Amino acid sequence: MGKKSIEKIDVSGKMVFLRNDFNVPIFKTGEITDDSRITASLKTIRHLLENGAKVVCSSHLGRPGGVKKEELTLRTVAEKLSQLIGVKVIFNGEITGDEVDNIKSGMKPGEIFLLENLRFDPREKANNDEFGKELAKGIDIYVNDAFGSSHRKHASISAITKYIPVSAAGFLLKQEIDFLGMAITNPPENFTLILGGAKVSDKIPIIKNLIKKTDTILIGGAMAYTFLKAKGIDIGKSLVEEDLTGMCKDIIEEAENKGVKLLLPVDHIAAIKAEPNITIRMVNRGEEIPPEMMGLDIGFETQEIYKNVILKSNLIIWNGPMGVFEIDTFSGGTFGIAEAVAESEATSIVGGGDSVSAVNLAAVNNKITHISTGGGASIKFLAGEIMPGIENLPEE
Ligand code: 3PG
Repeated sequence: MGKKSIEKIDVSGKMVFLRNDFNVPIFKTGEITDDSRITASLKTIRHLLENGAKVVCSSHLGRPGGVKKEELTLRTVAEKLSQLIGVKVIFNGEITGDEVDNIKSGMKPGEIFLLENLRFDPREKANNDEFGKELAKGIDIYVNDAFGSSHRKHASISAITKYIPVSAAGFLLKQEIDFLGMAITNPPENFTLILGGAKVSDKIPIIKNLIKKTDTILIGGAMAYTFLKAKGIDIGKSLVEEDLTGMCKDIIEEAENKGVKLLLPVDHIAAIKAEPNITIRMVNRGEEIPPEMMGLDIGFETQEIYKNVILKSNLIIWNGPMGVFEIDTFSGGTFGIAEAVAESEATSIVGGGDSVSAVNLAAVNNKITHISTGGGASIKFLAGEIMPGIENLPEE
């Protein structure tokens, strides 16, 4: 069982509304700095075009706040998509209206049209029914391939589906559901969850949902310091979410009761602030982080301990860096983990913008089983929260 796939429906001659997540990083000069979300969507687009559909693609880009912002136009994405797919992508800078309707009615099978940034219209985020209806005009089939946006109850994800009789999941969405879904419903033994990043508050929902499924949880990044503080360990000036120390204590206790190994850093790379070329201090096991310093990366012993766990795992989910990896001095922990995950024979799933950049920078991305295109969406999914964009789709 699973969500109905586009492979199961006849799209020939049909007008398909395809919701993509083309929310790609763009430089001030207008250049796309990472096109992986576009390349990840090509399989679905090719399938639709090759099977004779007329494809109307759509996405948001950034957070324009319901108004048109030239720097957030999807024109650049239309050009990139044309290059990658080898078919001219029609783009007229509009989302709905007479001109859009004219283009749609003149489209032939195998043609592709990209609407302008959906969030230029405030009705997108408001999940406005009327906007959903306008987007659905002339459309026969709705396909969601925007995993990264499926946690948002927005008009192109939610309201629109009321006005289109047939819906299905694209290949990218299916793949995300299959991999991440396996982890939350049916993980193998020796399932290791690696969590990092700045805020423990972002990751608590994942820990709460997966603590009953994992064997080991490895914690790094600034979020580790709230856990260490909860254990009464001196953390100097390290980042901490004071109000969550109680919650961290409960999690540590729950892990103990369930026999889950929850590992925290035993040594650290510390400095007075996160800056390049700053004097660093290795804080070894048993030493305290000096009061004027903060922990900015996991130390070598922690790396070794974590690596040993990773190499014995059957399934690894990694979300969030181990330190301030954007600065060379504090990048060793994150890159060390990236290499260990790549080296392991486990099914490996990496999600979240920073950990994905880390595996890309470490050039080990081709050794990861599944790199999720979702940032916030992968966190919500792993936390077991309702995903409007998935919930709406019919079962197979
Ligand atoms: C993302 O980049 O995580 C998705 O495109 C969602 O973007 P949003 O957080 O602006 O809704």
